[in-house]
Order: sequence, then structure tokens, then C-alpha cells
Amino acid sequence: MARPQQLAQIFQMILTLLSLVVACTAGIDHDDDDLALILKTQRTALTSFFTATNGPQWSDLCTNGWTWDNQTTCEWFGITCTNNLVTSINLANCGLSGTLPSELGQVTSLQDLDVSSNAISGTIPDNGLLNLTNLQLVYLYSNNFSGTLPVGWSTMSSLTDVRLFNNSFTGTLPTSWSMLSYLSTLWLSGNRLSGTLPDAYSALTQLSLFDVGQNGNIVGTLPSSWSSITNLGTVGLQGNQFVGTLPGSWGNLSSLSSLQVDGNHLTGSLPNQWGAQMSNLWQFTASINNLTGTLPESWSQLLFLGSFNVSHNQLSGNLPSTWPAAMNSSMIADALDIRWNCINITIANVTDGYFWANQWIAPQRQGQC
Ligand SMILES: *[C@@H]1O[C@H](CO)[C@@H](O)[C@H](O)[C@H]1NC(C)=O
Ligand SMILES: *[C@@H]1O[C@H](CO)[C@@H](O)[C@H](O)[C@H]1NC(C)=O
Ligand SMILES: *[C@@H]1O[C@H](CO)[C@@H](O)[C@H](O)[C@H]1NC(C)=O
Ligand SMILES: *[C@@H]1O[C@H](CO)[C@@H](O)[C@H](O)[C@H]1NC(C)=O
Ligand SMILES: *[C@@H]1O[C@H](CO)[C@@H](O)[C@H](O)[C@H]1NC(C)=O
Ligand SMILES: *[C@@H]1O[C@H](CO)[C@@H](O)[C@H](O)[C@H]1NC(C)=O
Ligand SMILES: *[C@@H]1O[C@H](CO)[C@@H](O)[C@H](O)[C@H]1NC(C)=O
Ligand SMILES: *[C@@H]1O[C@H](CO)[C@@H](O)[C@H](O)[C@H]1NC(C)=O
Ligand SMILES: *[C@@H]1O[C@H](CO)[C@@H](O)[C@H](O)[C@H]1NC(C)=O
Ligand SMILES: *[C@@H]1O[C@H](CO)[C@@H](O)[C@H](O)[C@H]1NC(C)=O
Repeated sequence: MARPQQLAQIFQMILTLLSLVVACTAGIDHDDDDLALILKTQRTALTSFFTATNGPQWSDLCTNGWTWDNQTTCEWFGITCTNNLVTSINLANCGLSGTLPSELGQVTSLQDLDVSSNAISGTIPDNGLLNLTNLQLVYLYSNNFSGTLPVGWSTMSSLTDVRLFNNSFTGTLPTSWSMLSYLSTLWLSGNRLSGTLPDAYSALTQLSLFDVGQNGNIVGTLPSSWSSITNLGTVGLQGNQFVGTLPGSWGNLSSLSSLQVDGNHLTGSLPNQWGAQMSNLWQFTASINNLTGTLPESWSQLLFLGSFNVSHNQLSGNLPSTWPAAMNSSMIADALDIRWNCINITIANVTDGYFWANQWIAPQRQGQC
């Protein structure tokens, strides 16, 4: 069955050898010409980038080299090269404004692009960056970008780390991004995204951080199919319009250490399965929802839980039996906030309250009992 493929590989090798022979006999000038052209292209592209982002107004240090004629592109501030090819642009916090030009897409050797914490506005050039097939890391966070997330990025298969938070992006999460099989960080909080969480992202098995917190308008339920994203460690969904229940199947996310779902419209109870399965859960915050039922006794097994905030829900019953004793140990060391529920606490003389940095603060009975 593999035979045609093997033949094709052998044929490919012969071709490669032949082209090497041709290249050698034809002399090295040819390669030099190619390289010279690439270097010229990347210099021109970066000069366009400098102009489009109001280069003359960048902070002083960051402009070093960019306007001088005594240095190669690779010596300009923020540029890193491998064999004269630009692999990294790091101009975080450099006072960039203006827009991101599509010419940047001609720096095809680029692996890392970090222009975070600037004041760049406008959209991500629609198809302009698609030739950046080596791109792994894109930090555009804390700028003034607007427009939609580029659907076409699904073909930039090297992407591992995409941080676009704190901008003004609108539109939905592109379903096509489920093809980015190496993606490990997708950080989109603090934008104005809407739509739902795509079921298809269940294919992003390398994803370890997913954050769409504080977008305001993401709707729908938490997809139970995401139980297959077994590398998930941090999930931020707070400050949106999610409905439905916390999926029991997410108990399979045994790497999950932080889950924040505060400020949605979630209903139902805290899943019993999570207590037995999410052995790495350190932070769980679900304040300001409509959760009901009791705190499952199984949550006693979450030995690393350090921060638990379910204030402003309709939970009732008792704390899991081991928690009161654990409160003076490492468990729940940071915060236990269960105010505005009907939870029956029987620790010392406290009838309701919350725990913060190993201290009870303002014990009080509040809630909707
Ligand atoms: C290159 O040119 C710039 C601006 O003219 C100057 O400040 C810098 O000292 C020069 N560097 C070298 C190494 O000559
Ligand atoms: C970015 O956008 C915000 C809101 O539109 C605006 O208040 C702010 O001045 C802008 N910042 C810059 C540096 O353009
Ligand atoms: C991408 O590369 C192809 C082939 O080199 C070229 O024809 C095309 O213009 C490039 N696209 C962009 C947007 O730069
Ligand atoms: C995003 O912006 C908000 C509001 O300005 C700020 O509180 C938050 O720290 C920022 N997030 C990050 C990760 O910088
Ligand atoms: C959870 O994981 C188990 C074992 O890996 C698997 O059999 C089961 O189908 C998973 N459940 C869900 C809901 O994904
Ligand atoms: C909880 O449910 C009540 C009654 O349906 C509703 O008025 C309230 O807005 C809900 N709260 C949240 C945070 O969804
Ligand atoms: C925690 O320890 C302090 C001092 O060791 C003690 O006063 C307090 O009662 C303990 N609290 C609980 C909940 O065991
Ligand atoms: C718990 O969440 C509520 C509402 O989001 C917030 O006001 C409170 O400060 C949080 N508690 C702690 C201990 O962080
Ligand atoms: C609160 O818990 C204590 C001890 O578990 C129990 O004796 C008491 O009846 C409970 N109260 C309510 C209202 O559930
Ligand atoms: C509960 O309060 C009473 C009266 O204030 C006090 O005598 C008693 O020691 C307290 N119990 C605990 C366990 O702190």
C-alpha cells in the first residue's frame, strides 16, 4: 500500500539531488541573487511597517537602526534573525500607532510577532498575513485593533500562541480555527466578541489556555464536547451571557487548574464528577450566576483547591465535610467566598461568611434563603 508513496519519495530525492548538482555547477551566484532579493523584500516590508505604524513617533530606543543606513535589517531594534532572515519582531510597548500593513506578510520567515501594548488601530489585514506560514506566536494584545478575527488564519498551521486580548475585536470565534492543531494559547479576553463557543474546538487537543472573559456577548452553552481538550489548564469564560449547566463531562479535563465563569447565566448544580476527576483544580470562580443545589461532598477530594468563589448564586446545604478543617492548611488558602447563597457553615460560631488569605472576613449571613 505504501509503495506508490515510497516511489514518490525516491523520485523526490532524485529531483533534489539533481537540483543540487545543477545549483552547484551553475555557481553560487544564483543563490546569492535569491538571498539578496529576499533581504531586499524584507527590508522594504519592514520599512512599510515602520511608516504605517508612525515610526517617527515610536519611543526613542525602539527606533534604533530603523532610520539609519549603516545597519542591516537584522540590527534594527526589536528584530531577530537567523541566517539573515527575520524570525522575530518584538516591539512591545514601543509607542506604535497607525495600522498593521499587509506588507508585513512578505516577511515569510517570521516566527514571532509581538507588537503588544501599543496603540495600533484598524483591522488585521485580511489575507495579508497568510503567507506567514512559519508564524508561531502573535501578540497583538492591548492595542486598539477592531474588526473580526481573520478566518483565514486557519491555514497558518504553525500557530501555537495567539494573544489578542484587550482590543475591540467583534464578530464570532472562527470555527475554522479548529484546524490549528498546534495551538496551545488562545487569549481573546476583553474584546467585543459574540456568538457561541464552537463545538469544533474540541479538536484543539494541544490547547492549554483558552480565555474569552469579559467580552460581554458570547452566548450559548458550555460545549460538553470540549471534554476532549485534555491539555486545558486555564479557561476564562467570565463576563459573558452563557446559559445552561456546568458540563459533567468536563470532569475529564484533569489538567484544568483554573476555571472562571463568573457573571453569566449558568444554572444547575456543581457537577459531582468534577470532585473526583479534576485533581488539579486550583481556582474555581462562578460568582453571579444562578447555580442551585448543594456543594457536592465529592469536592472534598479537590486537594489543591485554593480559590473558590460562588458568591451570588442559590446554592444551599453544607460545605463538603473536609473543607472547614482544611481551611487552615494549604487548601482554600486564598479565598473562599460563598456569600449570597444559603450555605450552612458550621465552623466555630460562624454561620455564614467568607475566607480570605487565612482570615475570616465579615462573617455574616446574607442570601436568598
Ligand atoms: C549609525 O548611524 C546612526 C545615525 O546616524 C548613529 O547614531 C550610529 O552611531 C551609527 N552607528 C555606527 C555603528 O556607526
Ligand atoms: C483606543 O481606543 C479607545 C476607545 O476607543 C480610546 O479611548 C483610546 O484613546 C484609544 N487609544 C489610542 C492610543 O488611540
Ligand atoms: C503570497 O505569496 C505568493 C507566492 O509567493 C504571492 O504570489 C502572493 O502575492 C503573496 N500574498 C501576499 C498577500 O503577500
Ligand atoms: C485588560 O484591560 C483591563 C481593563 O483595562 C485590565 O484590568 C486588565 O488587566 C487587562 N488585561 C490584561 C491581561 O492586561
Ligand atoms: C472521559 O474520558 C474517558 C477515558 O479517557 C472516556 O472514555 C470518556 O468517553 C470521556 N468522557 C467524555 C464525556 O469525554
Ligand atoms: C437568575 O434568575 C433570575 C430569575 O429568573 C433572574 O432574574 C436573574 O437575572 C438571574 N441571574 C443571573 C445572573 O442570570
Ligand atoms: C485556624 O488557626 C487559628 C490559629 O491557629 C485558630 O485560632 C482558628 O480557630 C483556626 N480556624 C479553623 C477554622 O480551624
Ligand atoms: C467573589 O466574587 C464577587 C463577585 O464577582 C466579588 O465581588 C468578590 O470580591 C469575590 N470574592 C473574593 C474573595 O475575591
Ligand atoms: C447545618 O449543619 C449542621 C451540622 O452539619 C446541622 O446540625 C444543621 O442542622 C444544619 N442546618 C441546616 C439549616 O441545614
Ligand atoms: C462561640 O462563641 C461563644 C460565645 O461568644 C464562645 O464562648 C465560644 O468559645 C465560641 N466557640 C468557638 C469554637 O469559637
